[in-house]
Amino acid sequence: MPGGFTFLLEVFVPTLNWLGKDAVLNHHLDVPYRTLELKESFNCESGKSENKIIHGDNLEALKALLPEYEGRVKCIYIDPPYNTGEENWVYNDNVDSPKIRNWLGQVVGKEAEDLTRHDKWLCMMYPRLKLLQKLLSEDGAIFISIDDNEQANLKLMCDEIFGAGNFVSNLIWQKKFSPQNDSKWFSDNHDFIVCYAKKKYIWHPNLMERSLESDSRYKNPDNDPRGPWASTDLAVKSYTKEYDYPIITPSGRMVYPSKGRCWMTSKERMDQLIKDNRIWFGMSNDNVPRYKTFLNEVQKGIVPLSIWLYEDVGHNQSAKQELKEIFPEEHNPFDTPKPTRLIERILQIATDKNSIILDSFAGSGTTAHAVLNMNKQDGGNRKFILVEMEDYADSITAERVRRVIKGYKADKKIELYSKEMTVNDLKNASDFLEEIKCIREERREDFSSFKTEFENNTLKLYGVAKGDEEGTGGDFNFYELGPEMILDGNLNEHQSVEKIRSYIYYTETGTPIDKENVKESKHEFFLGDFDNTAYYLFYKKKEITTLDFDFLSTIQIPSERYVIYADNCVLPKDFLFEHNITFKKIPRDVRKF
Ligand SMILES: C[S@@+](CC[C@H](N)C(=O)[O-])C[C@H]1O[C@@H](n2cnc3c(N)ncnc32)[C@H](O)[C@@H]1O
Repeated sequence: MPGGFTFLLEVFVPTLNWLGKDAVLNHHLDVPYRTLELKESFNCESGKSENKIIHGDNLEALKALLPEYEGRVKCIYIDPPYNTGEENWVYNDNVDSPKIRNWLGQVVGKEAEDLTRHDKWLCMMYPRLKLLQKLLSEDGAIFISIDDNEQANLKLMCDEIFGAGNFVSNLIWQKKFSPQNDSKWFSDNHDFIVCYAKKKYIWHPNLMERSLESDSRYKNPDNDPRGPWASTDLAVKSYTKEYDYPIITPSGRMVYPSKGRCWMTSKERMDQLIKDNRIWFGMSNDNVPRYKTFLNEVQKGIVPLSIWLYEDVGHNQSAKQELKEIFPEEHNPFDTPKPTRLIERILQIATDKNSIILDSFAGSGTTAHAVLNMNKQDGGNRKFILVEMEDYADSITAERVRRVIKGYKADKKIELYSKEMTVNDLKNASDFLEEIKCIREERREDFSSFKTEFENNTLKLYGVAKGDEEGTGGDFNFYELGPEMILDGNLNEHQSVEKIRSYIYYTETGTPIDKENVKESKHEFFLGDFDNTAYYLFYKKKEITTLDFDFLSTIQIPSERYVIYADNCVLPKDFLFEHNITFKKIPRDVRKF
């Protein structure tokens, strides 16, 4: 059992307890800061891409991203292991994976041996979600794929980390199209996508493009010159006495709102609306009145629904098929990909053309694929950051992105025949198969092969042709996790001075170093200005540095306050105080975060 419920009276929000929670509550602060080591730049000059694929445990990778990305990521999508307990997967979905077990052993200690599957999963997720929350921008949102194994636990944990008030929705994604008749209880055909905003009062989903189907609800039976319209109920539930009056139809009938309801507006305003032909009494002019909403007056898009059907965003099988097209040489490139269209839907709702998108459980790299597709479609400049722990980070995750960027040859399936079958039809199946045989014969020249499939009670014939999938363009940098910044309490001398400078500046200001500002200052040890304070790191590898009057005389740019790091300081205390100078001793005062 993963702990139980505690009711915190102070905040009136139930919180989840589980074994090992105490050990991980602040663990994100103990995770060592490691730098990112560039290994490859694909389709761009070395290091010049703004897209990143990182091979490594996301706990350390997320920490490594903080100095550059804290508060800047507009949209996070993660698809963590669902904790199904299934074994023998390409990656191990059970948190018993040796890497995670090792991590739990170190963090939770001996107690880790007694943890249940759920406790372990929660211990694994908690510090990662803490770091993800820091990375989100004020107007950002996180979307988390999950199923019933952990959905309820995840929801309570996220309430604690993101704030219950920032919960947006528990979206339903129809992941399968055919029922599983051997299921013991229900044939499970949906996943959840739990969505939280960093600040719900700031975050709003983008509207979805109006479809032909939604527009087709608008008609023009009275040839209104303002164009097609749809009618809605004129009566409302929130009762106001002044809005409760009879309306006389053109046919002369008196109509009242139904019991407990009233009309949506006052008598005077209603008379104006009737005069303006905005109230519809039906073709007979005798019906209960309804309000006309014109297509050209409705918002340019539709508010996204909370149930996402596979017809619109794909399903598990289509995701596998899509990946197989990119890796035709592999029998089963990756077990649990998500459909690109599913992630594209999230990007439509939660990003703009310049957003940064992060996926720290990247798997086969669907999120990068979706970002590249979207940029190609609308000329955007969205940036992606992916993290994948397993060794296929290069051979599957990055390789998919390389192929998508450059284009690849894919087997394209074109539907040639589709027949929804009733039970009676099934009795005559041989007739339909004969029809299919004829079509295959006729189209033999056009396709390299054919596929007959029976899905969703529908018999289908596809022609398969080799086609070129045009590249999306784009680029990325591939990184491995580098050495720790602080080793045995000292600044790690194997780190470049540039990375040490960035680290110190971030620990002081919580913002990334501004390289232009530093260049302009022309001072070798200047880190930057922040909040009327000038920061200096007087650091030399293998040399002891001393803050003295000689060093001070090199500072030309005046500031209200100064923070200066050095190995030693020989300036008198009252002098430092008088000139608003704070001396910070290396390594004693170097902070971890
Ligand atoms: C369900 S898959 C994600 C599938 C992905 N959405 C796609 O469409 O291909 C989860 C992925 O997270 C990775 N993973 C699990 N724990 C991780 C960790 N601590 N750090 C980085 N990646 C991790 C697994 O190796 C696996 O590839």
